[in-house]
Amino acid sequence: MDFMDLCQRRQSCRDFADKPVEHEKLVKCIEAARLAPSGCNSQPWSFVVVEDQKIVPEVAKCTQQLGANEYIAGARAFIVVLEEHAVLMPVIRKVLDSQYFAKGDLGAAVVSICYAAEAQGLGACICGLYDREKLCELLNIPVEKQFGGVIAVGYPASDKIRNKVRKPMEQIARFV
Ligand SMILES: Cc1cc2nc3c(=O)[nH]c(=O)nc-3n(C[C@H](O)[C@H](O)[C@H](O)COP(=O)(O)O)c2cc1C
Repeated sequence: MDFMDLCQRRQSCRDFADKPVEHEKLVKCIEAARLAPSGCNSQPWSFVVVEDQKIVPEVAKCTQQLGANEYIAGARAFIVVLEEHAVLMPVIRKVLDSQYFAKGDLGAAVVSICYAAEAQGLGACICGLYDREKLCELLNIPVEKQFGGVIAVGYPASDKIRNKVRKPMEQIARFV
């Protein structure tokens, strides 16, 4: 698929089909994240892929704070992106904190997962609201760990592409 087509097709999936997600497809999502760019190639990330159908609903519950994300009950897998220590080049480390680039790096990993999901016919939705402490307990993650994102994954119930609501190009870009 052409990359711009992929950009047009990718959307946050909020209606999942009752269909399991193949393990191999989840592995490919992680492979895409593994190949993402990062500051000094520090790769300050690790991933917990939740595919055990006994644990998946428990993760869903952790993302449904404040009554939000009801749709997530239909997700068949979750990918939790964790922030790891970044080893920067010594010359860079002299002026920047080790985690200075990490947030951006994690964003690159998260979006790579979303595109990889879309390219394989899956749907994904980044969940911004989650109970980090409960997730740590459930998934045996050290409680001090920072999260880069929680991504719900499943097959979309429909292949309809919604209209994209985006700021116009003139508002966001200057070509000089
Ligand atoms: C950091 C972040 C947090 C998000 N959190 C949620 C969320 O909790 N629930 C949800 O339904 N969508 C969430 N989204 C999806 C956005 O609402 C969505 O990307 C945006 O509206 C654009 O729509 P699209 O992804 O369908 O193109 C989140 C996206 C990002 C990047």
